[in-house]
Amino acid sequence: MGLAALPIHAYEAQILETVSQNAVSVLIGETGSGKTTQLSQMLHRAGYTSTGRIGVTQPRRVAAVSVARRVAFEMGGQVGEDVGYSIRFEDRTSARTAIKYLTDGCLLRECLYDPELHQYSVIILDEAHERSLNTDVLFGLLRRLVGKRKPELKIVVTSATLDGEKMSDFFFKCPIIRVPGKLFPVQIFYSKERPVSYLEASVQTALDIHVREPPGDILLFMTGQDEIEKTLLKLEEEVRNLEEGSCMDVVILPLYGSLPPEMQARVFGKPPDDCRRIIVATNIAETSLTVDGVVYVIDPGLVKQRQYNPASGVDSLAVVPISRVQAIQRAGRAGRTRPGRCYRLYPEAAYEHELLAATVPEIQRSSLAGTVLHLKSLELPDINILDFDFLDPPSIESLEDALSQLYIVDALDKTGSITALGKKMAELPLEPALARALMAAEELGCLDQALTVAAMLSCENIFYQAPRQGKEKKRPREEGNLPDGRGLGDHIQYLQIYDAWEKHDFDLKWCEENGLQKRSMKLARDVRRQLSQVMKKKKDGEPEPRESRSRQILGSARALRQALCKGFGNRIAHRLPRHNGYRCIGHKSQLVQIHPSSCSLEADEEGLLPEWVLYHELISTTHPFIRHVCAVEGSWVEPFLTKIDNIDIRSLSGRKASAKQSADAKELPTEKTGSLQVGESASAAR
Ligand code: CDP
Ligand code: MG
Repeated sequence: MGLAALPIHAYEAQILETVSQNAVSVLIGETGSGKTTQLSQMLHRAGYTSTGRIGVTQPRRVAAVSVARRVAFEMGGQVGEDVGYSIRFEDRTSARTAIKYLTDGCLLRECLYDPELHQYSVIILDEAHERSLNTDVLFGLLRRLVGKRKPELKIVVTSATLDGEKMSDFFFKCPIIRVPGKLFPVQIFYSKERPVSYLEASVQTALDIHVREPPGDILLFMTGQDEIEKTLLKLEEEVRNLEEGSCMDVVILPLYGSLPPEMQARVFGKPPDDCRRIIVATNIAETSLTVDGVVYVIDPGLVKQRQYNPASGVDSLAVVPISRVQAIQRAGRAGRTRPGRCYRLYPEAAYEHELLAATVPEIQRSSLAGTVLHLKSLELPDINILDFDFLDPPSIESLEDALSQLYIVDALDKTGSITALGKKMAELPLEPALARALMAAEELGCLDQALTVAAMLSCENIFYQAPRQGKEKKRPREEGNLPDGRGLGDHIQYLQIYDAWEKHDFDLKWCEENGLQKRSMKLARDVRRQLSQVMKKKKDGEPEPRESRSRQILGSARALRQALCKGFGNRIAHRLPRHNGYRCIGHKSQLVQIHPSSCSLEADEEGLLPEWVLYHELISTTHPFIRHVCAVEGSWVEPFLTKIDNIDIRSLSGRKASAKQSADAKELPTEKTGSLQVGESASAAR
């Protein structure tokens, strides 16, 4: 196909030799050296697919799709034939698929049905340097498989950074293959100080390069979609102001995860001649997607990162400094085709002294409820969740938080064992809370409605947000003709919107006219269909639910809200007596406000909002906010209050059963039978 040779090709013989001799190998190679697209093809050519598939995990959905397309193209076929991909809610593989790209989350789910992963002869844990939560869990699970499926299963771990020893140590000191990159020197420039506005500074730097420097594309790192859109507008404006003919043409392109595929293709397509491209990208361009032709990198040194705090239950999404490893990766993007330049918009001293050496792995900054439920449902013999083999273990506090959350929604019993309900929840491709809500909805006779709500919540950005709006964006829904949630909250509004769309025969034009994202709505419909199939499989024999019967919602959608409440028992907030601030219940007595993007809740004569609400997300941006809220009734909440008060974390975590917890000791002195567990009581009482 006339494809250019990549650095990895020179190492084909060595790679095949090492893989054939060892159950596990680690492969280290610079980003762009061909690990993701070539390794699978090499192993395929060497015959590994005669006994099973080659599975290649990717931490990001976009990467799985884009890379599968690329490899299918290189092998002269279509996606879904020899090369396929599988991501949550979308499976593009067939019986003949030999190379399967899949998200790490998908492979984890497959472990549920086939713990020994028999369909695979090779598993490549790709992009391991990203240390995504799911990849980290797979590390531990695959380690257990090595002995069981020797010699027919081969595992290859690939990483773009040099911490191969740690991974090799984890896998019984397996060999490390190093593919030296063909990296050209990259000259690094630092700013004297951090700019007041890194966006402005980035735009200025890009223009300077464009006006003064020889041809070569510019890659500029921004932290998120909104920021990218702002940067694009600003850049376009500045470029228009340049004197005609004073410099070469320029195209400015965005690159981020939720960008429609056809727009992404523009970045990977062949650039027009005599034209400079400025690509404004999120972190996705740091290691997982390689854009050819980049010679200049602008690195403001920041990334948007989620951080979960198990003590308060708050998820914050904050812009934080990158680590040195990331800074080095970013700079490296400039030297792929010839010597390049990297402009760091921060001082050298900051690089040396302020940046962390390496990024904190996701497992240490995420809520682990889903992960713990998954591990529990695998019923691994011999191990306690607190002793699971993690490459870098999460904190005990965070594991205990996950255990309590699962206990509250009935997925675990008092001793921390998974319940029958918990097992069913784990099988649904949803977070535990939504899974629990669906199970409850089934009992309460409102499954169809709950399916719709779960599907809508699974698609981010249902509402179209025009770029260039004020800080606190109002959803456009308040201007359009969309239903209002009956004053009961977002979940009810999602249901109404979906129903209205159904009444319009799922017409995409209708979505457009009402300020809804067509792609998200299409996805919601797909997700709904799939969820309803999964639910149906669970209770075979009964007729498949029709695509939607949720139109029957009338009145207060009471059963639906009650079902949701069962799932979100640990995400409930109580209004303060005199104003519309809320306090989250449980040991997370965090004070919060309802996010301004939420639809209006009905207020009483005094202007007070419902006393109890459940929320989908507790997120701290400028303030702690709860998002996606829905009114619930006090009597539904009560059982949870009792349950939360009675959590015995010691017994839950499988350590020796202990005396009853002390949080309620004052009210119930007679039940206090043993010694107090100092420290635990503190967290329970908070
Ligand atoms: O995984 P690694 O970073 O080592 O490299 P890769 O993703 O396999 O990329 C190898 C080459 O394939 C690079 O030159 C990419 O630009 C190219 N590629 C592409 O053209 N289109 C894709 N969707 C993925 C990779
Ligand atoms: Mg790669």
